[in-house]
Amino acid sequence: MSIQWFPGHMNAARKKAAEAMEKVDLVIEVVDARLPQASCNPMIEQLRNARQRPCLKILNKTDMADPVATQAWINHYNRQKGVTAVALSCKKPSDVVRVPKLALQVAPHRGTVLKPLRMMIMGIPNVGKSTLMNALLKKRVAAVGDEPAVTKTQQRLYLGNNMVLIDTPGMLWPKIEHPSDGLMLAASHAVGSNALIEEEVATFLADLLLQRYPQLLKARYGFQTEGMDGVAVVEGVAAKRGFRLKGGDYDFEKAAHTFLQDYRSGALGRISLETPESRAELLASYQPTDNPDALSEDDEDEEEEYDWRNAPDPRGSRD
Ligand code: G4P
Repeated sequence: MSIQWFPGHMNAARKKAAEAMEKVDLVIEVVDARLPQASCNPMIEQLRNARQRPCLKILNKTDMADPVATQAWINHYNRQKGVTAVALSCKKPSDVVRVPKLALQVAPHRGTVLKPLRMMIMGIPNVGKSTLMNALLKKRVAAVGDEPAVTKTQQRLYLGNNMVLIDTPGMLWPKIEHPSDGLMLAASHAVGSNALIEEEVATFLADLLLQRYPQLLKARYGFQTEGMDGVAVVEGVAAKRGFRLKGGDYDFEKAAHTFLQDYRSGALGRISLETPESRAELLASYQPTDNPDALSEDDEDEEEEYDWRNAPDPRGSRD
């Protein structure tokens, strides 16, 4: 089973974002530092390139990500034209205070009382946009929740007298082109998943951690990982936690849920699900026909301000 989403309100959100893009000087794009590329929506880059807007790219939740991988991503993004990347934890006020100064550095032509710097925070659900906005404004202005966000009304919020934040409604959903992106997003709870998918997501995560962070599995669950595959890891969690069904079999569903919770809460440690290298490998091996469920662009509505789909796909051109 592959995870694909394309909620109906995406086109409406895109249209609003394209309109808003005209009126801003800077895009603050928030992504999840643990999966920066899987948690970005390429539409953001396409929309801002069409309007030539610079981007302050915030790799958020860096407190949960592998610092080595995060630094590699920062270097990677800072090589891109018009992009300034920074790793933050928006839950830390001392991190968030850096944002206004960085924003002014990225767009130095604005930022006065007469010409305030107009900024738009963009990103897929659950990457921490509301947390960032609340911290920037030092008050609660948007609902913060762990479930993927619901559409909100657009707001203009003043940050001092020389900066304005425009809050985009509904935000943008991830464009899941590669099945592994869907699994990474579900593992990180950027998209919701039901119990059936949770088992697949947990197995995927376990396989990935076996390859990249076996020592963290050992440290958390105390078992030797040699010779294990993802299913065996989840069963190992069931065994360690005593999750059994009536007949004595492992309760795989419960173990999968617990394992995902351990990852999402940070109990497993600081983990990045992708690196620039793993992304490059994925792109190099990717055949569009690998994923028959992937959305064709024909599936989308034709109602457009301008045709961002003619822009080159940034995922294909990176690295
Ligand atoms: P969104 O607007 O982009 O949809 O995301 P939102 O701010 O609602 O944040 C989604 C979840 O991510 C929240 O968790 C929030 O606390 C958490 N979060 C945001 N920034 C960071 C960060 O830098 N580090 C960590 N570890 N978590 C972060 P929640 O469980 O729903 O809320 P809460 O109980 O933590 O407040």
